[in-house]
Amino acid sequence: MAETAQLKIGDKTFELPVIEGTEGEKAIDISKLRDQTGYVTLDIGYKNTGATKSAITFLDGEQGILKYRGYPIEQLAEKSSFIEVAYLLIYGELPSAEKLKSFQYELSRHTLVHEDMKKFFDGFPSKSHPMGQLSSLVSALSAFYPESLKPSQTTEELNQSIIKMLAKMATVVSWIYKKSLGHPVIYPQNKYDYVTNFLHMTFGQRTEEVEIDPVVIDAMNKLLILHADHEQNCSASTVRIVGSSDSNIYASVSAGISALWGPLHGGANQAVIEMLEKIKEDGGDTDKWIAKAKDKNDPFRLMGFGHRVYKNFDPRARIIKKACDDILEKLGVNDEVLEIAKKLEEVALKDPYFVERKLYPNVDFYSGIIYRALGFPTDMFTVLFALGRLPGWIAQWKEMKENKEPIGRPRQIYVGATTKEYVEIANR
Ligand code: SDX
Repeated sequence: MAETAQLKIGDKTFELPVIEGTEGEKAIDISKLRDQTGYVTLDIGYKNTGATKSAITFLDGEQGILKYRGYPIEQLAEKSSFIEVAYLLIYGELPSAEKLKSFQYELSRHTLVHEDMKKFFDGFPSKSHPMGQLSSLVSALSAFYPESLKPSQTTEELNQSIIKMLAKMATVVSWIYKKSLGHPVIYPQNKYDYVTNFLHMTFGQRTEEVEIDPVVIDAMNKLLILHADHEQNCSASTVRIVGSSDSNIYASVSAGISALWGPLHGGANQAVIEMLEKIKEDGGDTDKWIAKAKDKNDPFRLMGFGHRVYKNFDPRARIIKKACDDILEKLGVNDEVLEIAKKLEEVALKDPYFVERKLYPNVDFYSGIIYRALGFPTDMFTVLFALGRLPGWIAQWKEMKENKEPIGRPRQIYVGATTKEYVEIANR
């Protein structure tokens, strides 16, 4: 007998179906609630509300588990490559060597960006934030690929849009970086794989061949894998809901970039480094700043700490923290703020305020330290998060379209003024 939930309203009892996912998660299906009862539910911030059924990523916040298409993040971060993980997320299975080669070839054929895209850079103020540039430029890509605007694309057309989005994002990100330095952009080289090509376009020079350090390539692959998807987070849900109106992939991803920008979400990696720098300048008194984070009258929060889902360690934070020591040592980088971060973590994890609220370091707490050691400026960190998250956004967008999900349109409870009669301005 299928499990059901009983809802008692007044003298009536309603039966609601219960569904169970493949990992044992359970949900009360309320898709017919309003028809049955005339009631809607209210869950501001969707803390208890499932928006979809997805087969892409599984999180267990209590156990600190993260799996992409069933594969534990620890194994993928250790053994896979970013482009292989992108294939896994988007197409659902790890590719054979042949399929991976063909995927990489397809991407390499679409890494160039229309030369007219450069004109957009002329309009940006020199210090404009890279995330604002990225969301504008990604949306602008739709102007060059009108075929991607067709709502009902064939599978092949949809796949072409996906390949172009994935391929061109790396080029656009590298151009944003180069333009911020006033340097000439570097063009992609088909001999490189996706991540090496991105690093070549970012750190390469026109005047000489720059060898990309294998340590940097490995670190970048690992970081991008760790950011690749995270089920229905704020930006992924944004991409899905924008795509649900049959908006094209560039507009949907551009909206996801804008959602990710916020310091409560992907913007936290930049905010963490800015916070650590401020604590360093202030003399490194971690106890003082922990006290500020706990003080309800102080707007300061410990950036990089806490998570909507993880009430245990974010598994990505564990991996990145370990990689920090390894990469900084290999690159011979000594970053004082790493020690401050470790001290903050040590103090916070023993403090009842953080323990009671199950606040642990999240993916953003240590990632900026590695990005900085790789040579990226702080305001590029969230752009790098977006580059990593792109395959996840694409996979979520593709799944929503393949499942023919309806346009997203939540309900509300109105609490404004009841009916009023219009009063002529002379009588107000
Ligand atoms: C990402 O969703 C995802 O999957 C996101 C992400 C992904 O991969 O897509 O994992 C990436 O966005 C990670 C999170 C990055 N953001 C930060 O590091 C910003 C700092 N963290 C917080 O702002 C907060 O923890 C959130 C936004 C991450 C989660 O907020 P919630 O779930 O809405 O929880 P809340 O704000 O209601 O906090 C619960 C309590 C509150 O205290 P009380 O009112 O119960 O007394 O915990 C406190 C909060 O004040 N709290 C913090 C805190 N985070 C929560 N107090 C101090 N410092 C913090 N960082």
